[in-house]
Amino acid sequence: MSPGSHLPTRVYMDANATTPLLPEVVDAMRPYWIEHFGNASSIHLHGQQARTAIDRARETLAAFFNCHDAEVVFNSGGTEGDNTALTGLLRPGDHLITTSIEHSAVLQAAERLALRGVSVTYIAPQPSGLIDPADIQSALRPETRLISVMLANNETGVLQPIEEIGKIAAAAGAFFHVDAVQGAGKIKFDVRRFGCHLLSISAHKMHGPKGVGAMFVRRGTPLESLLVGGSHERRRRAGTENVAGIVGFARAVELATASLADGAIDRLATLRDRLETSLLRLPGTGLNGALPDGRPAPRVANTTNIWFDHLEGEALVIALDLKGVAVSGGSACHSGATEPSHVLMAMGLDKTRARASLRFSLLKTATDADIDHVLRVVPQAVEHLRAISPVAAGTLG
Ligand SMILES: Cc1ncc(COP(=O)(O)O)c(C=O)c1O
Repeated sequence: MSPGSHLPTRVYMDANATTPLLPEVVDAMRPYWIEHFGNASSIHLHGQQARTAIDRARETLAAFFNCHDAEVVFNSGGTEGDNTALTGLLRPGDHLITTSIEHSAVLQAAERLALRGVSVTYIAPQPSGLIDPADIQSALRPETRLISVMLANNETGVLQPIEEIGKIAAAAGAFFHVDAVQGAGKIKFDVRRFGCHLLSISAHKMHGPKGVGAMFVRRGTPLESLLVGGSHERRRRAGTENVAGIVGFARAVELATASLADGAIDRLATLRDRLETSLLRLPGTGLNGALPDGRPAPRVANTTNIWFDHLEGEALVIALDLKGVAVSGGSACHSGATEPSHVLMAMGLDKTRARASLRFSLLKTATDADIDHVLRVVPQAVEHLRAISPVAAGTLG
């Protein structure tokens, strides 16, 4: 919103790509770039100040995960957490079970490991986007060492039955990794309840800084570090700690926890539902992530993914951008790629419909005025594009 006006000039609805820092986060970080700039490994006062700040941040993350301080490892974000989980546990001859709707940070790590002699099973979702735990169960082999399943999908927001999968992993004696990047701050979570050994999250998806993340690593998990060089993070992640980033991350986590408790996330779901219900009234639209009875699958509060038949999603993204609305078609992490979303394709959409899909992911600071603006702009853009679209004319497959 522009100050003093009720009409938003730009509405950012791409929170699953990234989020802005909240002012409280910037305030918490500032001293650690300037006055308290020390290296947490130094023994003098500057070093001690940095170390104390990291220790405090670790306590915050441990409370957030519901784990011991020693089970928190700070790193550079979700990509590093996902890469570390897979690469740090799997050796030639091992078997990995994951899903075909994971983020590319998991999928490409799995592909690389497959070249090195790890066998990989990719479980496909149901059309709703949900993974059936029975499919994980039947994919188990004696040599299954790791199961890696995301908590919330970045494109649809659909929440996976993590606790059930955790029980299957425990019964099979397999390690269990959860990519919780898109769930963190959106639902209450608890690594003990999930039954996971490893879990990765990223600060920039929850109003913290980019380039900072954390992993839960259950005590005793034989995880080899990806980076070597120093004894940081109990030898689990070498490299001088990003003190300001870690402090900002912890502040963002505290604010996210407060939002979960004070009803802000429920309010967000109400806004998202209003947006979704209105958009689905447009002809030739549908929800990606619906159960067979038409209701949405369980999902995070901020996300909806909708197909708009007879147009190109990319064209709609550009048209909306010109009208001040930022959304994403397919996965924003692959911007520039014209391939239809692997997630939507795995859910059974055909290429045309996958390409005609848009993700709206609301910031937790979203307002009614933002929704009103989007609801003014989208129907016009859809109508206009359909009128001129080669897809609508049937000249583009
Ligand atoms: C589900 C999921 N996992 C991992 C990542 C990668 O996280 P990062 O951007 O912190 O590397 C993303 C980013 O979009 C994501 O959505």
